Amino acid sequence: MARATILVIDDEPNILKTVRLNLEVEGYQVLVANSGANGLARLAESDVDIILLDVMMPGETGLEVLPKIRAAKPEVVVVMMSGNATIETAVQATKGGALDFVEKPLSGDKLLITVQNALKFKRLDREHERQRGRTKSDFAMVGKGAAMRAIFEKVGKTAPSTGRVLITGENGTGKELVARAIHEHSKRADGPFVKLNCAAIPSELIESELFGHEKGAFTGATQQRRGKFELADDGTLFLDEIGDMNASAQAKVLRVLQENELERVGGAETIKVDVRVVAATNKDLPAEIAAGRFREDLYYRLAVVPIEMPPLRGRREDIPSLAEHFLEQVCADNMRRPKKIVSGAMTLLMQHDWPGNVRELKNVVERLAILTGDADLITEGDVGDALPRVKAVKTEHVRGTPFKDLVAAAERDIIVAALEANDHHVSNTARELQLERSHLYKKMRALGIDHRADAADDGE
Ligand SMILES: Nc1ncnc2c1ncn2[C@@H]1O[C@H](COP(=O)(O)OP(=O)(O)OP(=O)(O)O)[C@@H](O)[C@H]1O
Ligand SMILES: [Mg+2]
Repeated sequence: MARATILVIDDEPNILKTVRLNLEVEGYQVLVANSGANGLARLAESDVDIILLDVMMPGETGLEVLPKIRAAKPEVVVVMMSGNATIETAVQATKGGALDFVEKPLSGDKLLITVQNALKFKRLDREHERQRGRTKSDFAMVGKGAAMRAIFEKVGKTAPSTGRVLITGENGTGKELVARAIHEHSKRADGPFVKLNCAAIPSELIESELFGHEKGAFTGATQQRRGKFELADDGTLFLDEIGDMNASAQAKVLRVLQENELERVGGAETIKVDVRVVAATNKDLPAEIAAGRFREDLYYRLAVVPIEMPPLRGRREDIPSLAEHFLEQVCADNMRRPKKIVSGAMTLLMQHDWPGNVRELKNVVERLAILTGDADLITEGDVGDALPRVKAVKTEHVRGTPFKDLVAAAERDIIVAALEANDHHVSNTARELQLERSHLYKKMRALGIDHRADAADDGE
């Protein structure tokens, strides 16, 4: 557990001194302030867990400072202290959002118990948030096919261990979902799940994101800040797109994995952390290692248990249950009657290649649910309209090839794909491409595309 930080706000220097001594001996980090205004300033520049706030102070009283603290950092737990407390002040303090009210003078024991209770409350509060978050986003994983069953089995075996996991797979295959499932089923489930997308952070900021920084560590570091490793203490840190992490950050992450300790950027203090790292990437890390872009030693540390997510086109048997799952969700979210996908439409969904994998399927199902309005059924026609029928065409420049030949190649690819999608029915293909049928025939002849004699067509 990283050290909890406690801010004591009191105008009596003696109190500040004894409280600080008592708490520092127990391993807490203690900040002090001799007025409400100074206290708010300390709060703004540091990560504080608990505030001990005196009621009677010259200038602003504790009761006047309390709402400002709540407004600035609602997650901080406040305990009020007073030498001559009345019930009335205590009630007022609790109404203002203070957790507890203790009477001065505080004996060492009483002080410790108060702080421990406040920390326990903070953890429960965090757990509560987490539970709420979970029901909202719903991490349930769907998939009955052999490939997904094997994944579930691996997650079940891996989660309770402390082993680091590296999840690979194409975009949208469910890597993040697996990372969350591992956390949820681990002994750390009560601790935080913290995510960092390494590709989304500019490389000059990644170390401060990972390890935190001290005030003044670099231009713009106006406050002390905890990094993701510290925030994930006792929990799981999900390093997404780890293949995009720069060399310097890779070296530092390796050290944390080896020693379980770190320093904030610009900081001298060594901080112990207990974090399980789960990483994910859609890059081929062995190839990145060969190209000198990824550290081999870090790879072996991360990939204690490798999990490879299969692409959706490799497990088409999961498509119906996934589609029904997403449809149910989107109808419920939009307060619509439940809808059904007719079997022909489901077949079309199962035939599609889904280059964007489960995420793409989810998007298409959501689009279908919305575009079909009040209808109870989703039909072949609906799915046909929603799916991109024409395959992606290579349109790149090929050196030495004239423009007209490149355009012809692209046209040929488009027409062949469109014909295939329409069972070589020329009239339907022409309609879909919004071309005159005669014009399409002319193009086909010019481009040397066979009109298959066996194909269904409308005569002529
Ligand atoms: N087996 C599954 N059951 C239900 N939903 C799933 C499943 N797999 C993926 N999803 C959903 O598909 C979407 C994409 O999943 P996720 O974000 O986990 O993929 P990813 O592999 O991390 O993608 P990327 O590489 O693009 O970050 C999410 O909305 C997720 O909830
Ligand atoms: Mg992801």
